[in-house]
Amino acid sequence: MQTRPKIGIIISTTRPGRFADVPTNWLFNIAKERDDADFEIVDLRDYPMPFFEEKLPLAYAPTQNEVALRWQHKIASLDGYIFVTAEYNHSITGVLKNALDYLYSEIHRKPATFLGYGSAGAARAIEHLRNILAEEHVATLKNTVHIGMVEMLGMLREGKSMADYPFHDDFAKRMLDDLVWWANTLKEGRSRDEIAEAA
Ligand SMILES: Cc1cc2nc3c(=O)[nH]c(=O)nc-3n(C[C@H](O)[C@H](O)[C@H](O)COP(=O)(O)O)c2cc1C
Repeated sequence: MQTRPKIGIIISTTRPGRFADVPTNWLFNIAKERDDADFEIVDLRDYPMPFFEEKLPLAYAPTQNEVALRWQHKIASLDGYIFVTAEYNHSITGVLKNALDYLYSEIHRKPATFLGYGSAGAARAIEHLRNILAEEHVATLKNTVHIGMVEMLGMLREGKSMADYPFHDDFAKRMLDDLVWWANTLKEGRSRDEIAEAA
């Protein structure tokens, strides 16, 4: 029997005073109650990589940058991902794009979904992110969570919290159920390949 999948909740903004911690902590508190997967927060603040400056694409030559290697090892150790995604100018943040450029096989054949926040729930950023992840052999899922401007303003200006928007809990559950299914299924598929390669 295979072990429980490990899921990373990736925070994609790093600026001081970011809103990202609110949705991240809300989701993490829901996720850690589950007994079918292990969840951890992966904060891009802990991986301050330079702008991509490798001599060759990583498919041809591994990076020597210590922070990038640490980031790659962290991503390799996980079986699925939830990108907590802000929207900067209708796309993902530069820091997330740069971090993704530093990945290669560590993320291949794994599932990802999204917790977006912004005026349109970061829907535009998430659609861009799906395209980027397709190139990185990631299976992106239908079920997502979108925190809109009404909720954000409620929390930023009126002292509200995620508890005032309980409908998001149902979407989170559906998203997590789906992600765990895919994480288990693709983990099994990857391990079948490893067994065949070793034989
Ligand atoms: C550079 C920049 C561009 C932004 N562009 C958008 C945008 O296109 N759409 C949107 O909904 N919000 C946009 N915003 C507002 C963000 O949704 C809001 O600042 C949010 O709190 C950003 O996430 P963070 O606090 O975790 O950095 C932008 C914010 C910044 C800093």
